[in-house]
Amino acid sequence: MSALLSVEHVGVRFGGLVAIADLHFDVNPGEIVSLIGPNGAGKTTAFNVMTGFLRPSQGEVRFRGTSLAGLPPHEITRLGLARTFQRTSVFPDDTVFDNVMIGLHRQGSLMSRAPLLDTLLGRGGANERRLRERAAALLERVGLAGRSNEKAGSLAYGEQRLVGVALALATEPAMLLLDEPVSGMNASETRVFVRLIRQIRDSGVTLLLVEHDMPLVMDVSDRIVVLNYGRLIAEGPPAAIRADPAVIEAYLGQGSAARHAGAGAREAEHA
Ligand SMILES: Nc1ncnc2c1ncn2[C@@H]1O[C@H](COP(=O)(O)OP(=O)(O)OP(=O)(O)O)[C@@H](O)[C@H]1O
Ligand SMILES: [Mg+2]
Repeated sequence: MSALLSVEHVGVRFGGLVAIADLHFDVNPGEIVSLIGPNGAGKTTAFNVMTGFLRPSQGEVRFRGTSLAGLPPHEITRLGLARTFQRTSVFPDDTVFDNVMIGLHRQGSLMSRAPLLDTLLGRGGANERRLRERAAALLERVGLAGRSNEKAGSLAYGEQRLVGVALALATEPAMLLLDEPVSGMNASETRVFVRLIRQIRDSGVTLLLVEHDMPLVMDVSDRIVVLNYGRLIAEGPPAAIRADPAVIEAYLGQGSAARHAGAGAREAEHA
C-alpha cells in the first residue's frame, strides 16, 4: 500500500537543541496512528513540520506523493492535510456558532478567492446562507449542535477543543492531525471523543493523533509511533508498544519526575 503521509528523515534544530533527529515513519490511508512520547519529545514540533509551520533542518514530508517542502500552511491544508492545535483559541464572547462562522470566513479567504468573487457578483447572500448551513452541519458532526447559541467561553475547556476539530473538518481533509485533543476533557467527554475519532475515520479521514491519555491511545490506534528526546524509539501495534522495554523505560525512566512537573505546568497554563 502506498503511504498517504511519509515523514522522511526529518530533523529539527532550535539553535543548539536537537528537537527532532532522523524521524521517519509512514501513515497509510484509513489508519489511526498515534505519535506518543514524554513531554518535550518533539511531537508538536513534528506536527509543525508536517503542516508547514516549521521548516525542517533536514529531510522532508510527503503527502499523497507530493513533497511539502517550502509550502505554506494554507497550501498544505488545501492539499488535504488539516490539524488542530495543542492550545485552543476560541473567541470566548462570541457564540459557538459564530466561532465556526468566523473560522469558515477565514478559511474561505485563505483558500480561495470565491468570497470576494461572490460579493462582486452579488452572490454574497447565497454564500452566507451556504456557510451557515455548513457551520450547522459541522457542529452537528462534532456533537456541539445543541450548544450553538452559547458563548464559546462558557463551554468546558474540553468542549472548546471540539470547535477546533469542527474547523479542521471544514477544510474537508483526507488526513487530520490532532494535538492532544482530549487534554482537559473529563472521562465522559473523552469517551464521546473516542466515538468521534472513529466516526471521522469511518467517514474516510486518516488520523494522526498526539495524545498523553494512554488508555485512549491503546484503544483507538491501529499503530503507534514513539518518540523520546526527538528520536524514534519504537513503532508498532498497541500490544507490541505496551510491552516494549524502550518505551517503558522512556515513560518510567529517570526523567519521570521532571516530566510530571512539566505536565503540571501545562495544566496550569490551560486553566
Ligand atoms: N520554537 C521553539 N524554540 C525553541 N525550542 C523549542 C521550540 N519549540 C519547541 N522547542 C523545544 O523542542 C523540544 C520539543 O518540543 P515539542 O513541543 O515538540 O514537544 P512535545 O513532544 O510536543 O511535548 P508536550 O508533550 O509537552 O506537548 C522541547 O525541548 C521544546 O522545549
Ligand atoms: Mg506538544
